[in-house]
Amino acid sequence: MNRKVTVVGGAGNVGATVARVVASKELADVVIIDIAEQKAAGVALDMYEACPIDGSDARVIGGADWDAASGSDVVVITSGKPRKPGMSRDDLVRDNFEIMKSIAPKVVQYCPDAVIIPVANPLDAMAQALFRLTKFPRERVIGMAGVLDSARMSTFIAMELKVSVENVHAFVLGGHGDTMVPLARYSTVAGIPITELLSKERIDAIAKRTADGGAEITKLVGTSAWYAPGAAAAEMVEAILKDKRKILPCSVFLQGEYGIQDLFVGVPVKLGARGLEQIVEITLTADERAALMKSAAAVKELVDVIGV
Ligand code: LAC
Repeated sequence: MNRKVTVVGGAGNVGATVARVVASKELADVVIIDIAEQKAAGVALDMYEACPIDGSDARVIGGADWDAASGSDVVVITSGKPRKPGMSRDDLVRDNFEIMKSIAPKVVQYCPDAVIIPVANPLDAMAQALFRLTKFPRERVIGMAGVLDSARMSTFIAMELKVSVENVHAFVLGGHGDTMVPLARYSTVAGIPITELLSKERIDAIAKRTADGGAEITKLVGTSAWYAPGAAAAEMVEAILKDKRKILPCSVFLQGEYGIQDLFVGVPVKLGARGLEQIVEITLTADERAALMKSAAAVKELVDVIGV
């Protein structure tokens, strides 16, 4: 294959899930980089050996040597400490910033033209850290959060209305934290806004469960979620590699859009071969705008903690 995707931290649960989806869908060759070198090699070989069953000619290799990552089209960064039950995503900010500091120079050296997809938490702050550390243009640093949050919201809407998830389009704005903004007005089932189909009470319950979605899994499993986060990052990889120009909610560096300046916050963006192709601005009600501003303020607090 002539495309290459590197997954940093790929021996971990989220990274391995991204790698597996990319390989099984034959989107690109996959390089798994992890400080757990032997595990990375083993996980990669296991995935490689699954490819004949998937009918995929993707090659999957793993280790700790960045040489293999040279010239990657996309670098997904899943390294970082996961949440433990009771922790918020924000509790990880300092530790995971140190990890980003060790990874950024490698990405710059080996994958200078790649699109980076940060996945570690607290997501928006880590995306901003990688943007500052790599000095990549904002078009090539696109955080994964909204795709996951929207997938969760879609699941809950489909459960509630007993409809196919294929009919559901959920829309979540803001930072990937407790203040995220599930937007009911723009969330639809077969094109019908859910505000036409569900009571305010049920919508509020779905919005709350969406915002608490990560904590719900962490409590059940004892560590952070990985299937949905991994699948979400893989959807972004696919949109970029295939230049699909798909509109997805992602965390990007806003420079005045939505009235937010110099901060990573989740908004709808068009993803294509160059990464961020366009930020899509939609009209918000006063309440929605206030919720987005509150969410942005929560991201800003974290960004200030690490001074990025
Ligand atoms: C979650 C973590 C990964 O939302 O942030 O599951």
